[in-house]
Amino acid sequence: MKRIKIAPHGPEFSRMVYGTWRLLDTKPTAQEINRRLHACLELGITTLDTAEIYGLYEVEQLLGAALALTPGLRDKLELVTKAGIYVPCSHHPECRTAHYNATGPQLIQSFERSLRLLGTDHVELFLVHRPDWLTRADDTAAGLNELLRSGKIRAAGVSNYSTSQFDLLNAQMAQPLVTNQIEFNLLHPEPINDGTLHQCEKLGVRPMAWSPLAGGRIFDPSNSAAPRLAAAAKDMASRYDGATLEQLAYAWILAHPSHPLPVIGTNKLERLQSAAQAEAIVLEREDWYALWVAAQGCNIP
Ligand SMILES: NC(=O)c1ccc[n+]([C@@H]2O[C@H](COP(=O)([O-])OP(=O)(O)OC[C@H]3O[C@@H](n4cnc5c(N)ncnc54)[C@H](OP(=O)(O)O)[C@@H]3O)[C@@H](O)[C@H]2O)c1
Repeated sequence: MKRIKIAPHGPEFSRMVYGTWRLLDTKPTAQEINRRLHACLELGITTLDTAEIYGLYEVEQLLGAALALTPGLRDKLELVTKAGIYVPCSHHPECRTAHYNATGPQLIQSFERSLRLLGTDHVELFLVHRPDWLTRADDTAAGLNELLRSGKIRAAGVSNYSTSQFDLLNAQMAQPLVTNQIEFNLLHPEPINDGTLHQCEKLGVRPMAWSPLAGGRIFDPSNSAAPRLAAAAKDMASRYDGATLEQLAYAWILAHPSHPLPVIGTNKLERLQSAAQAEAIVLEREDWYALWVAAQGCNIP
């Protein structure tokens, strides 16, 4: 697995990242997650994406327990976490309504909890999970800058930010933002044309692509694009050593000139292995467009 600097002054990550949003879906034990983390390392996937809210605020604790089972394991990984989304639940009894809060003090409070649960004294990257429509950029930046100064985060970034939201916050940062983690996949190609990926390219910032398989919808027969994508993948498989649709969908993201890092979401080891193999696929231009056409169900303009 290749490695990539996420930004000119940012940390180096594995080209593909393991995401933990769905980690609790199969109710795994810490031992099972520990084994999965070792499997990631064997595949060269050293970067782990999580968030305070994942598993209704319970994933980070499980990850911390899994990391603690192998001394030194944490130091072999780059950790990415996020904060800023609050929903009513037992972990937030004070919360009446789901909302965003990216004020500096709230981000710092959430981040300190993440550190404690993960059992570490720093993370390589901390992201504001969603833009908070009620917070001034200088307030958010003050929190991020404070965390950067403390050394508890090595880099700061955002997720789901528009280009103008990114610019506004970036202008207040002591150290430039290193990524925008966004939804980008065959069924959600909008970042190609809405300026998001262009902004990343211009700044040398690598986007992180969440839901690279559209959350599994590219395989769902009830989705009209799925049979077209299956047919297109079958047609081109022989040119890529029998690659599956899953692998071609990752390769489609990797091929974009902004160098996105796909964040893999599977809970299945064999799918993790197959995802890692996709990193070596270099899609031919016409196949990249053929997959776009199959996904959209119309020809290019
Ligand atoms: N920043 C944000 O706002 C944000 C939002 C969403 C996600 N994320 C990050 O992105 C990561 C990935 O997101 P995601 O989980 O939606 O990614 P994804 O890879 O697009 O979707 C994963 C889902 O697809 C299923 N799947 C995979 N291969 C399949 C196949 N061949 N046939 C049928 N189903 C298949 C998986 O099931 P199995 O487990 O059974 O394989 C899983 O349920 C998350 O873990 C999180 O770290 C970030």
